Amino acid sequence: MNRLNPYKLAALAASLLLAAAPAYSAEKLKVGMMLPFTGTYAKLGATIKNGFKLYVQQQGGSLGGREIEYVEVDSEANPAKAVDNVNKLILQHNVDVLLGSVHSGVALAMAKRAKESGKLLIVPNAGADGVTGPLCAPNIFRTSFSNWQTGYAIGKAMAEDGHKRAVAVTWKYGSGEEQLKGFKEAFEKGGGKVIEELFVPFPNVEFQAVLTQVAAAKPDAVYSFFAGAGAVKFVKDYAAAGLKGSFPLYGTGFLTDGTLEAQGADAQGVKTALHYADQLGTPTDNAFRAAYSKAYGDQPDVYAVQGYDAAQLLKVGLTATGGDPKKSAEFAAAVRKATFDSPRGPFTISKSHNPIQDMYLREVKGDVNKVVRVVVKALEDPGRGCSMK
Ligand code: PHB
Repeated sequence: MNRLNPYKLAALAASLLLAAAPAYSAEKLKVGMMLPFTGTYAKLGATIKNGFKLYVQQQGGSLGGREIEYVEVDSEANPAKAVDNVNKLILQHNVDVLLGSVHSGVALAMAKRAKESGKLLIVPNAGADGVTGPLCAPNIFRTSFSNWQTGYAIGKAMAEDGHKRAVAVTWKYGSGEEQLKGFKEAFEKGGGKVIEELFVPFPNVEFQAVLTQVAAAKPDAVYSFFAGAGAVKFVKDYAAAGLKGSFPLYGTGFLTDGTLEAQGADAQGVKTALHYADQLGTPTDNAFRAAYSKAYGDQPDVYAVQGYDAAQLLKVGLTATGGDPKKSAEFAAAVRKATFDSPRGPFTISKSHNPIQDMYLREVKGDVNKVVRVVVKALEDPGRGCSMK
């Protein structure tokens, strides 16, 4: 028998390794995460990152045949620094994929640079309508929501709950204003009227002045948008001001997602609308929640889901393009055909690249956002101003 001697075998193995090594490292796919790791949205950035990495780990560290590596930039949820930060990822780090951001103003700057450069961008939170509106492009996708979508859902739910006169309270920046618009559209279509709009500059958390105005207006109910650390404080201040018993508090789901532990009893009964809820009880959600809490020792939230699904979307596109995110047309065609098996429930991607998804009304009961009902099935953002080239 012609057996290979051990020396020859070792030499062969070494030469194979040498030949493979440079190609292997060149094949790594660099994901540039531009997320808030400090400030009022710090926890949101952390859970998006956790969710994304969890999915990649479950796939053995590679998507579409490409091993994933990460570069992180702290966006600080600061639009004034966004252009510099995204340029750092594109020019200095030469990333293959941009992942970000949480704040709508930051995401708009990222989308502009993605559109100019052709770099793949996946938005795992920020709702800026423009990202899947006038700035839409074959290489830009969102796995979260549009501001219009979440506002619209809670507006419809509040009208269905029989409220006629609402006061709106929100942070004054793009996301707050766009969610408010969606809210008004649905609430007024359902027979309600917004009697007062109250604004707090982002990211301020001095709520006393607006809470005094809420009490003076005596509405049927209150609509609000705050998130992260700001949402924790708003819900606590609302209760401390004695408004909770008199004026039911509603909001887009960010008000109570990932925040309940800190809000405690003050959040009980708050109703919000979102594309995710606790205890959905589906096999996909159960498996996701178990894996997330095992990996991170914490309960996941909507931001973790959005990060997880961003990695799922990347996998679909990379698998269809042989691992090349620059093949935008093929990447997009595969993503548009896919149905994503998300912890939130299955969703598809619209022509303007935003999720078409069920919107849940939830109510805080104990330490969970419990589903009350599906407010809108398969809600699709109208994609106003998008003409996909
Ligand atoms: C946004 O700026 O689009 C934004 C930020 C935080 C949220 C939701 C939306 O929780």
